[in-house]
Amino acid sequence: MKKAKLSLDGQDYEFPVLVGSEDEVGIDFTTLRNTTGAIGLDPGYGNTGSCTSTITFIDGEKGILQYRGYPIEEIAASASFAEVCYLLVYGHLPTVDELRDFSDKLTHHSMIHEAMKDFFQGFPPTAHPMMVLSAMVASLSAYYTRGAVDEDVDLNIIRLLAKVKTIAAFSYKRSIGQPFVYPRNDLSFTEDFLHMMFAVPSEPYVVPDVMDRALNLLLILHADHEQNCSTSTVRMVGSSLSNLFASISSGISALWGPLHGGANQKVIEMLEQIRADGGDYQKYVDMAKDPESDFRLMGFGHRVYKNFDPRATILKEAAADVLAELGTTDPLLEIAKNLERIALEDPFFVERKLYPNVDFYSGILYRAMGIPTEMFTVMFALGRLPGWIAQWKEGRDDPKAKISRPRQIYLGATKRPFVPLEERVVKESATVKEPELVPA
Ligand code: SDX
Repeated sequence: MKKAKLSLDGQDYEFPVLVGSEDEVGIDFTTLRNTTGAIGLDPGYGNTGSCTSTITFIDGEKGILQYRGYPIEEIAASASFAEVCYLLVYGHLPTVDELRDFSDKLTHHSMIHEAMKDFFQGFPPTAHPMMVLSAMVASLSAYYTRGAVDEDVDLNIIRLLAKVKTIAAFSYKRSIGQPFVYPRNDLSFTEDFLHMMFAVPSEPYVVPDVMDRALNLLLILHADHEQNCSTSTVRMVGSSLSNLFASISSGISALWGPLHGGANQKVIEMLEQIRADGGDYQKYVDMAKDPESDFRLMGFGHRVYKNFDPRATILKEAAADVLAELGTTDPLLEIAKNLERIALEDPFFVERKLYPNVDFYSGILYRAMGIPTEMFTVMFALGRLPGWIAQWKEGRDDPKAKISRPRQIYLGATKRPFVPLEERVVKESATVKEPELVPA
């Protein structure tokens, strides 16, 4: 076992070094405070591992993303989203029988309790669908569990994967004032979602194959991404033994932020702003570089990928292919490509290793499929669901798992005597100047 040495106040300490299966090196600081009295400080956890995991591997320098060891490029080229859900949650690619049984369960658990339909009426039609999704997912715990003690985790995993797409589609229908379209057992997971989104009672709706394939790809590419902000949130909430629905609901709220999953909505709004502004993308690149401006090139940059995001590469190509197959164009795609070209030649972005991330091109595809901008982050959540579940389950199944409880370094006031209110009032009045009475 390799060791790392630390010297503090003239005393030397040694800590074990863990080397992962992809040669990542981690210094095991689990005994740091007990042996040195000091803690490690790493705001944003950019240099801190919260766990060991066997689910997803990312190499930010090489632009590598693997689910359970399988390269994302190979999975994206030939897997179904249901296969990826099974792979992430249960750790191996399903056999034909396992996949048939798993898909059958997803199909037969896709309805939500009829009473839950009324919840949607309580939200204003303008409610953001991520708020609705987080609230509805937390509400599932009212029907299927009360906590860790009686939770049927395997059944709730199926329920969650099956019902979230129904909740997402219902929230869209509610927002546009159309009747809910119920799940259909004769459709695949992705077809069923698109059917619930776009079918109307007045005429039959057949899901175009190109849209079904595009959705399958989008969901797969978003399915997991190791310890990102929302996944770490899910694991942290799960560490207190909160039930699965409550834990996932917290992840949805974390994903909503514009620095995280909410970026895909912001990217399209940014591209539309550039188009409305005459397509002057250099102006926006310059704004993004201006330290006085808080404008950021949304969809650019990543905490881990410092070369390229393999998902963005796949999505850029898919966006062009899907638009061509649909026989349509999108001026925002050309603006996005020009932004990328200019930024990748600009020293500001090159020096900071800012490249397009998964959110930069995904919105072009969602638009081509007719999905409204406000639903983009819901689509991200739909894809990320199996990853959140897999990571939550990994934490819950760890016999050595403890409740997550980071430490801090305190910089506030040192110990001082409390001042009772009556003294404070007296002291304040002693110091407060009497208002000068101005003659009427
Ligand atoms: C996701 O973690 C994951 O895995 C997330 C995710 C997943 O699958 O779960 O990949 C999904 O969240 C993708 C990221 C989506 N967010 C955005 O596209 C929002 C725009 N990007 C950023 O705000 C930023 O790049 C982050 C939040 C993504 C990463 O931030 P970091 O790593 O903390 O980098 P930073 O904020 O410290 O920035 C470093 C420098 C700064 O400049 P200086 O202070 O050095 O002068 O780069 C600049 C930043 O100002 N910078 C940008 C920029 N992103 C960083 N400048 C302009 N435009 C940007 N987009």
